[in-house]
Amino acid sequence: MTQVKQIIYKSHPDGMPKESDFEIKTTTIDESDLKEGQLYVQLLEVSVDPYLRYRMVEVGGGFEPFKVGQVMNSIALVRVITSKSDQFKKGDIVTGWSVPWQEYSILDATGVQKIPDVDVPLSYHLHSLGMTGLTAYFGLLDICNPKQGEIVLVSAAAGAVGMLVGQIAKLKGCKVYGIAGGEKKVNFVKQLGFDDALDYKGVSNMDDAIKKLCPDGIDVYFDNVGGETLEAVMINLRNFARISLCGSITEYNNAESSKGPRRYFNLTYANAKMEGFLVARWKDQFPKAIEELAGWLKEGKIQEKIDEWKGLENIVPAFIALFTGLNVGKVVVKIAE
Ligand SMILES: NC(=O)c1ccc[n+]([C@@H]2O[C@H](COP(=O)([O-])OP(=O)(O)OC[C@H]3O[C@@H](n4cnc5c(N)ncnc54)[C@H](OP(=O)(O)O)[C@@H]3O)[C@@H](O)[C@H]2O)c1
Repeated sequence: MTQVKQIIYKSHPDGMPKESDFEIKTTTIDESDLKEGQLYVQLLEVSVDPYLRYRMVEVGGGFEPFKVGQVMNSIALVRVITSKSDQFKKGDIVTGWSVPWQEYSILDATGVQKIPDVDVPLSYHLHSLGMTGLTAYFGLLDICNPKQGEIVLVSAAAGAVGMLVGQIAKLKGCKVYGIAGGEKKVNFVKQLGFDDALDYKGVSNMDDAIKKLCPDGIDVYFDNVGGETLEAVMINLRNFARISLCGSITEYNNAESSKGPRRYFNLTYANAKMEGFLVARWKDQFPKAIEELAGWLKEGKIQEKIDEWKGLENIVPAFIALFTGLNVGKVVVKIAE
């Protein structure tokens, strides 16, 4: 029997999630309970992602809600300590999309996959070679098909998805603009190769600010935030513009459902399209995309940025930081080496 720490989902957040909505507990785990087809694993690195907030509700929309009292889970990397599956062996590093926030766990082997055999730091498998990288890749390339010379705008540009969207758009020969909170983030995305960026926190009129940033209009908007930024984009679209609805973080902590977007009829005037997606829809194509992303990484064509936190007790603060904009790049919490 081993004593392990775990994070319990204690209450549905009212607005912004708080540390008191979660609780760290100690439980015991018995490796000898392992059954055929299961793995005994050690938690190594945890990905915290804004969509987890969508699961912290009584009744869910697109995702299965967390139940009060359950152990929290998310995408994470674990090391196999003992395997009763012929698919995995001791020492393998595997990833799953619903890994418990618990130091050691027993998992069904069917719920995890080996990480690709690429010589990069482990955390990259939670970012550029993981779910967020795939979101940037497919949400930009598949939905928007950006072409050489086109103007691409991305919001939450210094975050995990946004920083990759901008870099991939540059690789496709686009002119790329970003929107981010604060001067530090604006400088960060410019250093990544964005042509220019806007600090939305210093802006009183978003319509004017976007017009100034993109005076020739916008061919592609990769939307991570929704809200008034999306509305301002609507009046700056070029003919045949495409909008990729990736996320709407301005609304995740609002109990009331969205009334927007206003001005949607501008899609008609611009012969434009707006399409939402969940990245899992391309899961059959993930291996090929990861190969291409890994190639770009190795050739130095895209840069990485991991915002690393440490320790099980910091998973929740790291998650909350996504909504205060504390992070630059991808937030990963390291639990063990
Ligand atoms: N559709 C899919 O399959 C899919 C998959 C993955 C992610 N997503 C979505 O993609 C978006 C980005 O996710 P990520 O993992 O890359 O997170 P992230 O951008 O690394 O972190 C979230 C960022 O959002 C910004 N933000 C937070 N609250 C905001 C608010 N009220 N208004 C404006 N900006 C706010 C902050 O940046 P600033 O400091 O710049 O404000 C923060 O750093 C999220 O909406 C997420 O839900 C969708």
